[in-house]
Amino acid sequence: MSETQESAGTTSVATAQASLTVVDNRTGKSYEVPITDGTVRAMDLRQIKVDDEDFGLMTYDPAYTNTASCRSAITFIDGDKGILEYRGYPIEQLAEQATFLEVAYLLIFGELPNREQLDRWTHAITTHTFVHENVKSFVEGFRYDAHPMGMLQASVAALSTFYPEAKEIHDEQVRYEQIVRLIAKVPTLAAFAFRHAKGMPYVYPDNDLNYAENFLGMLFKIAELKYQADPRIAKALDVLLILHADHEQNCSTSAVRSVGSSQVDPYSAVAAGVGALYGPLHGGANQSVLEMLQRIGSVENVPGFIEGVKAGNERLMGFGHRVYKNFDPRAKIIKKAVDDVFEATGTTNPLLAVAQELEKIALEDEYFTKRKLYPNVDFYSGLIYEALGLPVEMFTVLFAIGRTPGWVAQWLEMVQDKEQKIARPRQIYTGDRTRDYVPIDQRG
Ligand code: CMC
Repeated sequence: MSETQESAGTTSVATAQASLTVVDNRTGKSYEVPITDGTVRAMDLRQIKVDDEDFGLMTYDPAYTNTASCRSAITFIDGDKGILEYRGYPIEQLAEQATFLEVAYLLIFGELPNREQLDRWTHAITTHTFVHENVKSFVEGFRYDAHPMGMLQASVAALSTFYPEAKEIHDEQVRYEQIVRLIAKVPTLAAFAFRHAKGMPYVYPDNDLNYAENFLGMLFKIAELKYQADPRIAKALDVLLILHADHEQNCSTSAVRSVGSSQVDPYSAVAAGVGALYGPLHGGANQSVLEMLQRIGSVENVPGFIEGVKAGNERLMGFGHRVYKNFDPRAKIIKKAVDDVFEATGTTNPLLAVAQELEKIALEDEYFTKRKLYPNVDFYSGLIYEALGLPVEMFTVLFAIGRTPGWVAQWLEMVQDKEQKIARPRQIYTGDRTRDYVPIDQRG
């Protein structure tokens, strides 16, 4: 993709001369390992051996809590300071001033578009929102109560069968076309899943509407000739999509990169991301938060619920983050969007008071402060989605629509990165070795 521009990370300190001296106390030998960008290369440890037979030293890092898997110029996070930047632009400025498609362009191409580039990009996305009629037929094949994330994952994966050229991942033009299709068609697939559960006819995209309005139309249009979204609702949805657009090497993005590293087509890789996002510890948390708030029911029940969390009975969903240990900047912006949406819909939700009380008590409680647990992006987003009239099952689907540009930007960066190979971690084998097969009638 010719418009992609990768810039070197601006945050890393030049540490070319730095090195780490390691003494292996098993042998008394000493080794010098270079330090670059605050990291040592795990492969540099392989030379550390007890003897010639030894495989060499490995690192053990379940859940990759301290392992950088790539070099990336897309998203910067400082978890202690609560900073999130896409290509160097603070999330607060983008949420306030940019549109989702502009942000998608920024993530993918590396720079904000000028007017002409944005028009071309918007036109490309808008004119690729339709899906093949056969997609409708197989979405119809799902059971009436199928979870929309399962439907979305399957239908995104199925797109690879409609565009077999997508496997030409080294062809710049082909890559560009699939990226456009993914960003354009994911909302259509998501809306089909929603209408299927409702038993309502699927609504075709309307190319006169902007990205958020078109999605709302495909969800909610009934008999009116032209769907008109409340601009405040469409804006709030657009902001939510921006906030979810990328988050560096999170679980679903790592899944996209890992599956994509096999050089499979991007639909199959993004479908893996949808699967990872579905989990309750990741994007599925927004559904879990609302279910938790419904279970708590009212403000009086909050202290008892918090005691249960502290006793280890369950987690306070929507709290905590692997990277943010001070505050999640997305949560702050969402909190404001909650007010805007309630104003637009003219409704309030008693669960908002429950959420606010939970937040207040948790932020004063040593259990949470000691562990640096703060509200994350999912804590308030569910309340907005509910105010939009979406059932809880759709919440994570909204997250997936927002995250699609991030997934494809990270996939694109990965396939162009000469250092990347097929992802293939090592293991520490803990099982038995070399046993003779025992016929079944001789087993105890
Ligand atoms: N409620 C209560 N205790 C918690 C919570 C929570 N939400 N999160 C972490 N803890 C405790 C945990 O029990 C542990 O305590 P201890 O040290 O006594 O064993 C400590 O805090 C550290 O937890 P951890 O599981 O080692 O932390 P992690 O970095 O592996 O997990 C997390 C991060 C987001 C999975 C976790 O905080 C969590 O399960 N939160 C609830 C689910 C949630 O809201 N997920 C959405 C994340 S943001 C959107 C996204 O990126 O998908």
